[in-house]
Amino acid sequence: MRETWVVGAASNRFGKMTESAREAAARVALEALDRAGVEPRQVGYTFVSNAFGLAEHQGHVGPLINTALGIPDVPSCTIESACSSSSAGLHEAFVHVAGGFADVALVVGAEKLSHLDTLTATSYFATGADYAYETRNGATFPGLYATLANAYQHRFQIPAEAFGSVAVKNHANAALNPHAHFQKPITLDTYLRSPVIASPLRLYDCCPFSDGAAAVVVAAKEAVPSPSAEPLVIRASARAGSIVDMHDRPDLLGLPATRAAAEKAFRQAKLAPSQIDFLEVHDCFTIAELLALEDLGFYPRGTAGRATLEGETARDGRRPVNPSGGLKAKGHPVSATGAGQVVEVFEQMNGLAGRRAVARAETALTHNVGATGGSCSVHIFSRR
Ligand SMILES: CC(C)(COP(=O)(O)OP(=O)(O)OC[C@H]1O[C@@H](n2cnc3c(N)ncnc32)[C@H](O)[C@@H]1OP(=O)(O)O)[C@@H](O)C(=O)NCCC(=O)NCCS
Repeated sequence: MRETWVVGAASNRFGKMTESAREAAARVALEALDRAGVEPRQVGYTFVSNAFGLAEHQGHVGPLINTALGIPDVPSCTIESACSSSSAGLHEAFVHVAGGFADVALVVGAEKLSHLDTLTATSYFATGADYAYETRNGATFPGLYATLANAYQHRFQIPAEAFGSVAVKNHANAALNPHAHFQKPITLDTYLRSPVIASPLRLYDCCPFSDGAAAVVVAAKEAVPSPSAEPLVIRASARAGSIVDMHDRPDLLGLPATRAAAEKAFRQAKLAPSQIDFLEVHDCFTIAELLALEDLGFYPRGTAGRATLEGETARDGRRPVNPSGGLKAKGHPVSATGAGQVVEVFEQMNGLAGRRAVARAETALTHNVGATGGSCSVHIFSRR
């Protein structure tokens, strides 16, 4: 395999977009290419994710984006893996570039749903669960993650404040991030007073519905030896799957796909969790951040809540988690989320993170889950 780098990455502000997903996708793709010092004509393959394109009556967005970039003859492919769509695209880009099938590959994720009401958006999102057994019987993502939160609380008796401390931390980080949907810190009191959405999850346990677009440029070291920005070396690109239906899983105290992807990733990277400086993890709900930290091997089962309450995962803590604000507060525009996590790593490692900069940014891990864990990607990056 060839040494493969992320040479550029860019996103817009997540939240509410006035432009369409395809327009936003083309714009951030140009910005990412510009940051890399790579011309669109150098792109050999484009991997696009736009899981809910039908909300804008548009499928097959790859050729439209390539046409907007002036490269209509470049092959493209749409990758759908629910909330982990663009990290699946990144994995495909890595495979193509590391394997020598393309010298430069572009990964783009974009979503626009803000024109839908909450009920319609909820039913679109629920298509990521199993329609036959879950969705048709009324399950939604807040409900499914509430089931995980209930199982966790029942087993470990953790206080509501442990979930709340994830929300408070991620809102504080997002308040320093110009790309974030929410840019207002919250207090634990605000969290505890917020309405219950699906018990025990409250409003501030949930990620919002966000529009957004993000792009990542992946290149072989030999193809772009002197990129304009400091490249991120892709040390690992791992994916795993698991049973979709929660009622068929052996236990609800974690996501098996995260554990499997993490094991592969650490093996590929020849690194241990103790060597990772900061993480961007999939916190679609606060319980998801706690489960991720335990499944990824950073904390023993049942202890991530206490560590969060004690500030270990804060921006200035021992190991910062979600310095971007995470899905919880930076936002979760589904297909843009995985690529957006890489934008955060790129900005942290290139000194572009401003007031949200972490103290040490030599190695980083991104973790992106599809729905309740039917699919998962883990990537590990380091500076040269
Ligand atoms: C939590 C949720 C139900 C709230 O929806 P809602 O009750 O219709 O809320 P609204 O859109 O009417 O917004 C009401 C207010 O709450 C805010 N808000 C909405 N969702 C929020 C969230 N998740 N966190 C913080 N604030 C939120 C809005 O900004 C708005 O604030 P304002 O009155 O100051 O403008 C919705 O955001 C949700 O379902 N989130 C989960 C999405 C999801 O499942 N994603 C997939 C994960 S796998």
